Amino acid sequence: MKPHGSSDQTFSRDTGDLLILRQPDDWHVHLRDGGMLAFAADYTARQFARAIVMPNLDPPVTTTAAAEAYRTRILDVLPEGRRFTPLMTAYLTDDIDAEEIARGFSGGVLTACKLYPAGATTNSANGVTDVRKIWPVLERMHSIDMPLLVHGEVVSPDIDIFDREAVFLETVLAPVLEDFPGLRVVLEHITTDDSVQFVEAAGSNLAATITAHHLRIDRNAMFEGGLRPHAYCLPVAKRRRHREALRRAATSGNPKFFLGTDSAPHQKHEKESSCGCAGIFSAPTAIESYAQTFEEEDALDRLEAFASEFGPRFYGLPLNEGTVSLQRQPQNVPELMSDDHVRIVPFHAGETLRWRFNGRTDQR
Ligand code: DOR
Ligand code: ZN
Repeated sequence: MKPHGSSDQTFSRDTGDLLILRQPDDWHVHLRDGGMLAFAADYTARQFARAIVMPNLDPPVTTTAAAEAYRTRILDVLPEGRRFTPLMTAYLTDDIDAEEIARGFSGGVLTACKLYPAGATTNSANGVTDVRKIWPVLERMHSIDMPLLVHGEVVSPDIDIFDREAVFLETVLAPVLEDFPGLRVVLEHITTDDSVQFVEAAGSNLAATITAHHLRIDRNAMFEGGLRPHAYCLPVAKRRRHREALRRAATSGNPKFFLGTDSAPHQKHEKESSCGCAGIFSAPTAIESYAQTFEEEDALDRLEAFASEFGPRFYGLPLNEGTVSLQRQPQNVPELMSDDHVRIVPFHAGETLRWRFNGRTDQR
């Protein structure tokens, strides 16, 4: 494959066995807190220069002070010399204070706000019960150009779990975009062809992240020979045709689609339970997983833009200057990853990946 030349700044080089990319960022990740934080944060900080850190802790991150304290805890647990910038988010609640959010944004602590519809996912009980309740907050965010990140699912006993995302587009996202036509919105971890089409048709203020796992699994993965809790995440994986639409979108070169792993670790026993948690821990081999998918789609030359350019451009941040390299070398992913505090089954557990992350250089 030829080195591609989408811009004269590109770092992407593929010599067959070595793939060099501009340092990527992860635009959606769960780093957790307490005993799990060091474990989760280190895996993300190894591969990514920056990450949008989700605020769904217990209790959630709803103030600037809480976001600042969480950022400090993240930086404190990282090994000496790891260069990593956590980009902090605030968790929207029905009664969140718009001024508090605006102060956090103008003070450089908050990068964005996250909308979790109440009950949609892990620690979302304090989320928004009706999007109309946060209209004044959205108005304020619109006026200061603060991005809104959305978990795009409607939760109602009347709506089939596989339809939650499509219904959200119609009943929540469309009215938000209509009333706030310039609001920058990221539709996170999209799982359907409906979302791909919705994002493509919208203005340049709407973008979407795509996870490594939704590019690889469809809903059958949850039921392969038995119940497979480690393939359960939210939004839940959909039919194969939706996964194919996501693959087309991710590899299309359309800057509205960029990398966000939604890596979401849960303890093994909390996944393998009568009421298992949603989330897939993909951070340890995230970039390798994306590389494998892009290679399968014959689009390895588009990985760099998806992983390292489109996200920062959308957020109005500079591109990273360093590079990472991946070696074409079989990599066995362990069945279990653990330390003194955690036991986690990672994404791709027990599989052999074709690429191996080699490391990063912090300069060009
Ligand atoms: O699978 C998921 N896990 N989806 C989410 O939206 C949240 C996440 C988590 O925090 O566990
Ligand atoms: Zn998430």
